[in-house]
Amino acid sequence: MKSIVRLFFILMTVMTHAKDPHSFAQPQHAVVTHLSWKAKVDLNTHTIHAQATWDLFIHQSVGYVVLDTRDLQIVQVTVDGQLSSWETGKNDPVLGAYLRIPIGPSAKKISIEYNTAPDAAALLWVEKPSVFLFTQSQAILARTWIPCQDSPGVRFTYDAQVEVPAGFLALMSAENPQQKSTDGVYRFNQPLPISSYLLALAVGDLKFKPISDRAGVYATADMIEASVFEFADLENMISSAEALYGEYRWKRYDLLILPGAFPFGGMENPMLTFVTPTVVCGDRSLVSLIAHELAHSWSGNLVTNATWDDFWLNEGFTVYFEFRIMEALYGKEVAEMLASLAIQDLYETMESLDADDTKLKLNLTGRDPDDGMNDVAYNKGYWFLRSIEEYIGRERMDHNIKRYFDQYAFKKMTTEQFVEILKSEWLDPGAYKAINPESWIYQPLVPSQAYPIVSSKIQAVDQYIQDTNEGKQELAALPWMSWTYQERYRFLSKVSWSEQRMNQMDQLFQVSKEKNSEIQFIWLMSSIRCDNRSQADFCTSFLGSVGRRKFILPLYRTMVQQGGWWAELAHSNFEQFQNQYHNVTKNSVEMLWQK
Ligand code: BES
Ligand code: ZN
Repeated sequence: MKSIVRLFFILMTVMTHAKDPHSFAQPQHAVVTHLSWKAKVDLNTHTIHAQATWDLFIHQSVGYVVLDTRDLQIVQVTVDGQLSSWETGKNDPVLGAYLRIPIGPSAKKISIEYNTAPDAAALLWVEKPSVFLFTQSQAILARTWIPCQDSPGVRFTYDAQVEVPAGFLALMSAENPQQKSTDGVYRFNQPLPISSYLLALAVGDLKFKPISDRAGVYATADMIEASVFEFADLENMISSAEALYGEYRWKRYDLLILPGAFPFGGMENPMLTFVTPTVVCGDRSLVSLIAHELAHSWSGNLVTNATWDDFWLNEGFTVYFEFRIMEALYGKEVAEMLASLAIQDLYETMESLDADDTKLKLNLTGRDPDDGMNDVAYNKGYWFLRSIEEYIGRERMDHNIKRYFDQYAFKKMTTEQFVEILKSEWLDPGAYKAINPESWIYQPLVPSQAYPIVSSKIQAVDQYIQDTNEGKQELAALPWMSWTYQERYRFLSKVSWSEQRMNQMDQLFQVSKEKNSEIQFIWLMSSIRCDNRSQADFCTSFLGSVGRRKFILPLYRTMVQQGGWWAELAHSNFEQFQNQYHNVTKNSVEMLWQK
């Protein structure tokens, strides 16, 4: 009897339609199933002229189908080849406007011809050092370049034909060409169903080099060799991931190295992860970022958060999987250092957040989803899963996760549904009570039963930090040269710096010459905080060459908070560089002056 009741509840959660607060679409009535996209990219006017043809499946005929758009100029609409009227809603600055197209009960295809706006939020048109276009669709920016049902819970397959000027290569989150065509026309196919936030396009003067039969790197000529060196372990990562949680289902796994303006570290676009050039630092010290994006091929791209309120399901699982790949390839110590630093970041992030934003399950209704997406989903999500692992044991954990990816592949997942899975499949009542998933998910901060994560290497660094702060440790006697990047990062982020101590550190170990961008970032943060103006030029050149929001936003924020001279420098730098930044970064930084 009890199991019948449980089955009923599971069915209810699967069937009831969790409305996505960030999409106007009504997929419960008419849902898109396939996209045929025909586009011409104009690198001069910064616009795309395109035709999006969607196959429909009608669940319940209500007389129309609804898509999301933002800043699109609609030219014409057809339904099954016949010209049709259409209606657009009032524009919301975050959500854009709905596009409502009247359809009969047996409509099969709708086709929308349109132009994108030169300032379309997903797109960044780069001029220097070479002409480049890339998109960033997550979370809700796909609608600024393709009219779509822009909700992660809606999946579709796609094909595309894209025309670019001769001499450029076009790439998408799909089966990709490896060479330039003579006429600038490229054809793409994505045979597996994906969500709209995984739609991606890049255009540039690109080269391809293979790393294995199914993996390789795309980059501009100046970056290609260094990238092949940096990511030499790519194939090993894929096979380690498969050994953990089952077959890689997307055929190829390629990387695209983007211009410095790319606003993220990485973006898990299916078959073609987009990567910031700041991880190509020459010593392979930041490859965990690739492990992360690769892991999304299961957590996120196969099993997908139903709405952005469930974002932790994508990122928390991915961080857990990332660290497992890192452990498999580079050992437990490395993985545990990463975990320990993740916890450090989490605590620092939580300090500046409203309590509600430190819950795993978010409520982003009425907000830009971008505002609520922070370390909590990643690192508290990781910690929750890690605590489950420690309680039930690794063998059961891995069995559960593998099953989860298989059973829910190409489906959406809500937090509530995952709680049901925990209850009915992963945890017996005793374990459920001890772990208390509800406290992790629906309560702020970190529950007291969290498994204590300890890295002996990081602990050793902490001792050096304490001794340095107390004046008992000579900087010159630090084992800096034998430290990994993780140990160096910990030291730099935790020591109490003075201008004098920084200068001494730099003389001893040339910290300001480090190629690792995480190190550069934390060094600059300390420089600003202790008014070390000798690093101001370095700071300006960093802000002028990197667009990754994770670095750029805290740097500007700290400069503004510092006030006076630094605030002025922040202002003049932003004036100079803002047009180089992607919208995602630019808008976040702009807010600093609006508060
Ligand atoms: N999918 C995210 C990037 C993202 C998140 C874009 C939310 C837009 C909205 C990607 O997988 C990611 O998490 N990237 C991280 C790197 C990672 C190693 C934590 C980043 O960009 O810093
Ligand atoms: Zn991620």
